[in-house]
Amino acid sequence: MDERPRIRDLRPFLKVLTLFLGTFLIGWIGSVIYLSQTYPDIEWDWDNIKTSDIHFPLNFAWGTATAAHQVEGNNTNNNWYVWERSVDDQGVSRIHDNDSSGIAADHWNRYLEDIILMKDLGVNHYRFSIEWSRIEPQKGFYDLEALSHYRKMCKALLNGGITPVVTLHHFTHPIWFENMGAFENEENIDHFIQFSELVFNELMNLVPIWCTFNEPSVFVAQGYFNGIFPPGKKDPVLAGTVLENMLNAHVRTYHKLKSIPGAEENQIGLVKNIFQFDPHRRWHLLDWAFSKILNDVYTNAPLEFLSTGNSSFYMPGMVDNEMSNPNAPGSLDFIGLNYYSRMHVRGRINPAEPFVFDTREQDIMTDMGYPLYAEGFYRALKTISKLGVPIYVTENGLADNTDNIRPLFIERYLYAMNQAIKEKIEILGYFYWSLMDNFEWAEGYSMKFGLYEVDPVTKDRKLRKGSQPFIDMVNKRGADERGYVVGVGEMAPDFTMQYISGEKVKLSDLKGNVVVLQFTASWCSVCRLEMPHLEKDVWQAYKNRGLVLIGVDRDEPLDTVIKFQKEMGTTYPMALDPEANIFGLFADKNSGVTRNIVIDKDGKIVFLTRLFEEKEYQDMIKKIKSLL
Ligand code: BGC
Repeated sequence: MDERPRIRDLRPFLKVLTLFLGTFLIGWIGSVIYLSQTYPDIEWDWDNIKTSDIHFPLNFAWGTATAAHQVEGNNTNNNWYVWERSVDDQGVSRIHDNDSSGIAADHWNRYLEDIILMKDLGVNHYRFSIEWSRIEPQKGFYDLEALSHYRKMCKALLNGGITPVVTLHHFTHPIWFENMGAFENEENIDHFIQFSELVFNELMNLVPIWCTFNEPSVFVAQGYFNGIFPPGKKDPVLAGTVLENMLNAHVRTYHKLKSIPGAEENQIGLVKNIFQFDPHRRWHLLDWAFSKILNDVYTNAPLEFLSTGNSSFYMPGMVDNEMSNPNAPGSLDFIGLNYYSRMHVRGRINPAEPFVFDTREQDIMTDMGYPLYAEGFYRALKTISKLGVPIYVTENGLADNTDNIRPLFIERYLYAMNQAIKEKIEILGYFYWSLMDNFEWAEGYSMKFGLYEVDPVTKDRKLRKGSQPFIDMVNKRGADERGYVVGVGEMAPDFTMQYISGEKVKLSDLKGNVVVLQFTASWCSVCRLEMPHLEKDVWQAYKNRGLVLIGVDRDEPLDTVIKFQKEMGTTYPMALDPEANIFGLFADKNSGVTRNIVIDKDGKIVFLTRLFEEKEYQDMIKKIKSLL
C-alpha cells in the first residue's frame, strides 16, 4: 500500500501547526523576557555587603509592636474567642495544637513590667491595639474602666519616654459585631466609627499616632478566602465586599476623627501588609499570570483605591468588585507598612487548585514557612512610597524558635530599610514585631516572634540573644563610625550662623541652593590642606551656579578666623561656630573637625566627607556637579 498521498495531505496542517507553535513560542519567550526585564528579581550579594555600615536619622522612631488579643490575655468577648473554640468539618480545632489565646502574655496585668522591657531595649515608641470588645462588650454599652485602663497605660508609656501608637482594629471585634455580619455589611461601619470616636476622644491628647485598621488585606485573605481566620469563609465575592467596606471604613473614620477639634496634630493612617507574589518559575507564563492576579488583589487594588479613590478587586472568573470613594485620596497622614516576606507562586492546570505556593532550596526559611527576603522589604518600601505620604514600618520581624537566624534577619532587613532611606524614601520609624512571644492567630503559640521569650507557664520574659542587633541599632543613635550624628538622606538640621562679616544667615533661607558646609579650624592641618582645593574645585567652579560654600570655623574668636582666612587665601565665606554648637548638630562634638556636608536644593543631606581623601573628595565634586 502506498502511504505517500496521505502524508502529503497532512502537510498544510503541519505547516499551520508549525506556524502556530512558532508564534506561540516566540510570544511566550518574548513575554517572559519582557516580564523579567520589567519586574526583575531583586536579590543582593549579601557576601559583599557590610550590613553594619548603616546609620538612621537621629529623630527616627524606634518601637516594638503588639496587638491586644495576642498579648493581653482573657479576651473572651470577641470573634477570635469564638473561633478558638470552634472546629472545622473534620472536627479539628482551628488553631494549631488546639491552642487558644487564654491569658496570652498577660500584658493586661503586666504592662508596667513590659514598659521597663521596652526601655531596656532603648526604643521610644510602642504600637499596640485597643480591644473593641473590652470597650463595648455589648452593643451601645461601654466599659469605661477598660477605657481608663488604656489611658493609664498610655500615661505610663509617656512617663517612661515612650510614645504610644494605637491601632483601632487589629483583626478582632466584639461578638455582637461579628453576629451582625461585621464588615460584610456596609451599614455596620457606623458602629466602628462610633467606637473609634470614643477611644480617640479619650486618648487623643496622649497618643499622637493612630492606625485605623491593621492589614485589611490579611483580614480578608485569611477570613474570607483561605478560611483560616474567623469567620472562616471561602468566598471571593464576599472577600471583595469586605475589603471595600474596610477601606471605606478607614476613609470615613479618618475624616471623622480629623474633624474633631484639636485633631489636626494627630497623625492618622492605615496599616498595609505587603507580601510580594513572585513567579516560582520565571520562565513560566502561568506563574507570572497568577502572581499578577494575586499582587493586584492583595496590594495594587487597595493602594490604587487609597491614591485615586477608584480601583477594582478583580480575580478572573471569580470576582470583579469595583471600589470607588472620592474621599479616599487624602485620607492618610502616613501609611503603615507591615513587611515579612514574599511568596513564590506556581500556576497549575487544575481548576480546583489553580496555583500553589512553593519554596526554593536556596532560601533561608523562617518558622512561618516563608523565606528571609530583605530585598523584598526594600521593594515594598518603594511600592508603598508611591502613595506619596510618610511611611512608618508598623511591623517587621520573624518567627525563629531556635533564635539562630534572628540576628541575620534583623541585620539584613534594617540594611534594606536603610537603602530605601538613602534613596530618599520618607520613613519615619520602625516597629519590631514583636516585643514578646504571643498568640500567633491560627498558629497558636508555636511561633516565636518575640524579642523577649515568654515562658508558657510562668509568663516570665527573657531577652533573646538574637535580639541584640536590634538593640545595637536602636542605641547607635549617637554617632556613626566617622562621628556623624546625621546620615545621607536626612534633612539637614536648621540653625543660624554668623559670617565673619557680621551678617547672619539661617540654613533654611539658603534652600534652592546647593550648600556645602566645610567644618574647619585654624589649628587643623588637614583642613588647611583641603581648603585651597575647595576654593578652586567648588567655590570658583560653582559659586555663580547656585552653590553656597561656607567654612564653619570651630569655636575660635573672630580675629583668629579672619587671620586664618587671609593665610589660606580663600575667598568663600567663613562663619563662626561658638562652642561648636553647629558642628554638634552634624557630628559628635568630641570627633574630628575636617568634614564637608553637601546639602541639596531641598535641604537634604546628600554627601558627607571625613578627612581629605582623594577618592572621597572627587566623589563629592562629582556629586556637587550632578546637583547643579
Ligand atoms: C499581623 C500580626 C501577626 C504578624 C506575624 C501580621 O500580619 O499584623 O498580628 O502576628 O503578622 O505573623
